Amino acid sequence: MRRPARAKAPSVKPSRRGLSELRTLALEARERAHAPWSHFKVGAALRTASGEVVTGCNIENASFGLTMCAERVAVFKAVSEGLGPFVAVAVVADSPELTPPCGPCRQILWEFCGDILVHMADLQGRTRTMNLAKLLPLPFDGRHL
Ligand code: THU
Repeated sequence: MRRPARAKAPSVKPSRRGLSELRTLALEARERAHAPWSHFKVGAALRTASGEVVTGCNIENASFGLTMCAERVAVFKAVSEGLGPFVAVAVVADSPELTPPCGPCRQILWEFCGDILVHMADLQGRTRTMNLAKLLPLPFDGRHL
């Protein structure tokens, strides 16, 4: 059986300006969050190596377990449109500490994006950027199958 290729590390690193634009798009996407149960709105923006951006917001459900995080919405939208490879994802939320992608989102990001830049931001203008490999050390992926 042919194994799916794991996403390679990005070859194009977005500039500071690129990350700032990505942050703005994630901020806008956050406004479209459907979060009536937690009231915790998250926006994400995923950038391809060729500069396309796909956004996502969290989409909750009264059946709580069906909730989908902003990052996964962005990844699934992009993958279903045949886009990639990816170089960075911005995540924006309003929280006392910068919001990183949750565990399942880290795993999904790793599968489709490899070691991309994760740019976290809040509404006060605080930011932090780190590689996904730092957020997900010793990942499980296609190399193990
Ligand atoms: N959430 C995200 O969208 N991304 C994350 O990385 C963390 C959590 C959402 C899921 C849920 O709608 C709300 O935030 C509270 O957990």
